[in-house]
Amino acid sequence: MENDDFVLAMERAAGRFQEYRARLPVIPYAYTRTRLIDLPDFEVVAMHWAPGSISPIHDHGLSRCWVLLMEGSLEVENFERESAPDTNPVELRETGRLTLRAGDLDHRLGPSELHRVCNPSREGTYSLQLYARPIDEYRVIDEHTRHSRIVRAISDLELPLQ
Ligand SMILES: [Fe+2]
Repeated sequence: MENDDFVLAMERAAGRFQEYRARLPVIPYAYTRTRLIDLPDFEVVAMHWAPGSISPIHDHGLSRCWVLLMEGSLEVENFERESAPDTNPVELRETGRLTLRAGDLDHRLGPSELHRVCNPSREGTYSLQLYARPIDEYRVIDEHTRHSRIVRAISDLELPLQ
């Protein structure tokens, strides 16, 4: 039954996109996260990706994640860890790349999957993320030193869907 709840929540957030689109924070060269739905079992976050924005290499902690592209496009690079867990520096191997375009749905069902996301285009990109459970702590890997650390997910804005 939980999958039905996820689908309904994503449909609701996607269906009302034009209502909140203009209220999502925009920061040059960066991405922003606005939480729309905050429930014990899952949350839905709307992201704006400015042109040139790029995430760190990261996992999703203990959460599974579904991504729905609303507008624009994103490049995703996937990595596999070749060194033992919890050791630094982390040895990584790139395992693939994909481009997400408006209407595409991507998912991260293995919480420890490592990836990096960027918007190399000249237009802003909007995406919806559903995290189950709500994402709290997750791992980022410095692309230069390859050292990993745990960080806490933050929202730039809380904008509950009424
Ligand atoms: Fe991610």
